[in-house]
Amino acid sequence: MSSQSQLFEPLQIRGVSLPNRLVISPMCQYSADDGLANDWHLAHLGKLAQGGAAVVFTEAVAVQRRGRITHGDLGIWADAQAQALAGIARFISSMGSVPAIQLAHAGRKASMQRPWHGNGPLDDSDRARGDEPWPVVGPSAIALGEGWLVPSEMTQAEIAQVVEDFAAAARRADNAGFGIAEVHAAHGYLAASFLSPISNHRTDIYGGDRAGRSRMLLETAEAVRAAWPHDKPLFVRVSAVDGAPQGWSLEDTVALAKDLKGLGVDVIDCSSGGILGSATAAKGPPPQPGFQVPYAQAVKEETGLMTQAVGFVLTPHQAEDIVAKGQADLVAIGREALDDPNWPLHAALALDADQAWEHWPVQYGWWLSRRAKVLQALRETTTTA
Ligand SMILES: Cc1cc2nc3c(=O)[nH]c(=O)nc-3n(C[C@H](O)[C@H](O)[C@H](O)COP(=O)(O)O)c2cc1C
Repeated sequence: MSSQSQLFEPLQIRGVSLPNRLVISPMCQYSADDGLANDWHLAHLGKLAQGGAAVVFTEAVAVQRRGRITHGDLGIWADAQAQALAGIARFISSMGSVPAIQLAHAGRKASMQRPWHGNGPLDDSDRARGDEPWPVVGPSAIALGEGWLVPSEMTQAEIAQVVEDFAAAARRADNAGFGIAEVHAAHGYLAASFLSPISNHRTDIYGGDRAGRSRMLLETAEAVRAAWPHDKPLFVRVSAVDGAPQGWSLEDTVALAKDLKGLGVDVIDCSSGGILGSATAAKGPPPQPGFQVPYAQAVKEETGLMTQAVGFVLTPHQAEDIVAKGQADLVAIGREALDDPNWPLHAALALDADQAWEHWPVQYGWWLSRRAKVLQALRETTTTA
């Protein structure tokens, strides 16, 4: 292969071999019933696996019923939910991608409307379609904003239960065939809300200084690492900055990442925002392409950990540059893959890492390589005519 592409260089993380550096970012589908995966999830994640990413992440999968963002979120607090995910993990693996699961608890951002129903807190209008609001929990009794549910302050016993439920979820995910697990500690959800001084005003061992506010996440990472097989990678997604005054900072993230490294976390997945509203559907000015890449770069440089960059990575050359410049080890794409599920396969062609549709599922590649020759001949005939 003549390509110089570093995006399409393999990467070994613990016992898992990745054929390239592209990852499908976790994306909620709000389409589950009582946490159970269904045909939508198989088709959605299946087509993304056919698209050639090295890693295909599920959406945020709740470790407790009350930790779902919406009524439509996936869950893994019960064995039946893990069984429903097992077939999806098997299909992703059969496509040569690594099935990855994001384990999550929504905390004070639970009990929300699906985006297309308003993206706000569930209220009386949602009851009409059977979406009952439920009580939410957080580090402190501080709502996300005006009109949002006030969470009840978690007791230490409740925190211990969440930590245990993350570990139990990891065991179920292992049995279901997932090869990578990620703890969701970004976007203002439970773990992120413990980290941030904006949402955590506790005065016990789970609050106060950075070390206290980090304790819940560190206990979770430690418990998940112990429950998750040694040869399988563990990622943590963080909001590297809250992006709000007096919020969590990049310096905090670097310090946290060093602690996570000591606990056996392999990759820090660097997102941002979400402590005061939506991280992705934010209203403000549009972000610049690759706006979160500097966070992945800083964490990588200052901790020696592998990082994953995400957010507005729009073109194959942009992704290539991130890896080639050593800013991150992995590049996650979200909405671009919704637009074009074959984004990684097209990137391989654009970067000359695949010259003959060899990365494609054979059912498609055999035809498309021949089609390309026909199109080329047609172009030549048209130019010479
Ligand atoms: C439909 C949708 C659902 C999302 N759900 C999640 C999620 O479950 N967990 C998460 O960490 N991020 C979630 N995100 C954020 C994405 O993983 C990603 O970080 C973000 O979309 C920025 O990447 P992009 O610009 O390539 O889309 C979601 C984004 C979208 C568009």
